[in-house]
Amino acid sequence: MNVFIAGGTSGIGYSLARHYLEKGYVVGICGRNPEKVPENSSESLKIFQADVREMHSITLALQTFLSDSKNLDLFINCAGSYSEDVAGQISYEEAEEMLQTNILGTANCFEAARKAMKGQKKGSIAVIASVSGIMNYENSSLYTKTKRSVIQMADAYRRALKPFGISVTAIAPGYVDTEKLRLLNHNDLSKKPFLTDVQTAVTIISAAIESQEKLVIFPAKMKWMMKSLSILPSFLLNIIMYRKARWMKDDQP
Ligand SMILES: NC(=O)c1ccc[n+]([C@@H]2O[C@H](COP(=O)([O-])OP(=O)(O)OC[C@H]3O[C@@H](n4cnc5c(N)ncnc54)[C@H](OP(=O)(O)O)[C@@H]3O)[C@@H](O)[C@H]2O)c1
Repeated sequence: MNVFIAGGTSGIGYSLARHYLEKGYVVGICGRNPEKVPENSSESLKIFQADVREMHSITLALQTFLSDSKNLDLFINCAGSYSEDVAGQISYEEAEEMLQTNILGTANCFEAARKAMKGQKKGSIAVIASVSGIMNYENSSLYTKTKRSVIQMADAYRRALKPFGISVTAIAPGYVDTEKLRLLNHNDLSKKPFLTDVQTAVTIISAAIESQEKLVIFPAKMKWMMKSLSILPSFLLNIIMYRKARWMKDDQP
């Protein structure tokens, strides 16, 4: 099995890479900063420098990986940009990176994977969205809106690629304990409800891909909380989510 992971240099993507290496698969990863990959990672891990915001960059990394291995069995896009954009307080530069990585980058990854799998008549593509993306309300954060777009894009590619034997799985995690999440929260995740450790996340994600699920939302408690909230009228949801975000930042409610 040949697996390529965009955004595999740290966090969920890197942990997924280790999981597939342990299963004996051929694994390639990419990111903008390959030097982030721990030095003690397996020698058989193939590491590429690539930026998902550039179509040429991600295509070249994937082609180079496949020049050794031919078929592409699984492509996972974990590349994502997030910040603490409570109440819309993010810089123009942060917003630009979020839009380009989460929307353009997702489209580029789908395109690169689709082209590589074309003609194989099989393959799986997975993308990491976010549980926040299942809710629709006017004042949701930019991050939430980009991840909602990721779920919609996955729906469109699933529909388009089904006749060609290619499955598409969208993953919508709640909070996962990664270095990046810790960095953004000054190493204090005490206000993150239903936090999942990264190994549990890897187990859930890999099982969902294997069983070709369309959309997996985890953990279960977060899923049901979000589903219950999403039946509320938009104005009420706006107030609740805004207060929650301010509380998480120890800001005035
Ligand atoms: N942790 C959570 O609580 C959580 C919850 C829900 C969803 N998610 C989503 O899960 C994914 C992984 O998050 P994480 O917590 O594991 O964070 P992370 O460690 O920062 O992982 C993000 C990965 O994406 C790569 N990346 C970012 N921009 C890129 C670009 N333009 N081109 C190529 N690679 C790029 C990063 O590597 P480089 O720096 O090398 O580019 C890194 O490998 C993200 O999509 C995030 O939105 C996370």
